[in-house]
Amino acid sequence: MFGDWRARQRKRNVLSSAGPPSMRSLISGLHWLAWRDPKRRAQNLLRFAEVEADGGRDLVRAAEVTRDATLRKLFLKHALDEARHADLFRGRGLALIRALPPGAAGGVQADWLTPGERGLDDLRVEQEGDAALLAFLHLSEKSAARDFANYIAVLDADPSTKTVFEKVLHDETFHMTYTRRELSRVAPRAAGWRLWAARGRRFWKAYLRLASALAGVLGAVVLTAQYFLILPLFALAAKRSARREGVGWTAVAPERNGGLERQY
Ligand SMILES: [Fe+2]
Ligand SMILES: [Fe+2]
Repeated sequence: MFGDWRARQRKRNVLSSAGPPSMRSLISGLHWLAWRDPKRRAQNLLRFAEVEADGGRDLVRAAEVTRDATLRKLFLKHALDEARHADLFRGRGLALIRALPPGAAGGVQADWLTPGERGLDDLRVEQEGDAALLAFLHLSEKSAARDFANYIAVLDADPSTKTVFEKVLHDETFHMTYTRRELSRVAPRAAGWRLWAARGRRFWKAYLRLASALAGVLGAVVLTAQYFLILPLFALAAKRSARREGVGWTAVAPERNGGLERQY
């Protein structure tokens, strides 16, 4: 249905993943797999819709707290864009779900394959200055634009979803550009340092996401091993002690057979 992704991934634009050709092919193949199943595609789109809406709310808050009139206007426009992206993703995700055959097989959730836009990534907007916010936003929009360009490259078989991503990518490219331009205006000497600091914070958040996902997997492995290796030993011991128990009623010693005048 999706044809040969190898042929399509050659047509990528400049926002495609960086790295050697073999790595790009591998990433392209993973994206193709992640978007192949219609149910998983719908789940991804609905998840994107939530994140875009959340990012829009953060930007409204950023517009409220900034003292810079130009930034306030841009943040509000940006928030409207993110709200529109949320509507686009939700609409397409719901349309895909409605088109699924009854009882369609569930797809495996693989969020790490399709990260989408992360917006301000739970940053506390009130505690950040304009420059820190702009640096963080710029990197987030840049990575979203690259991811969306990659998804467009593997969505030829679903033109409606592809069109949604093309519309969103147009806005994300603007967001990526204006945040970098405004960062240079707001912090002309510290723009580079701000970007490195934001990169460090994004790296730390990515590490925390990976660590919590790994902890979930390890927890499942350990609990499964306990269930199959340790629990049978207790079940065996319980069976052996049950065999030693006498059948029927057992006479109670006279000293334990007094009147019920106290609890113990
Ligand atoms: Fe967006
Ligand atoms: Fe955006």
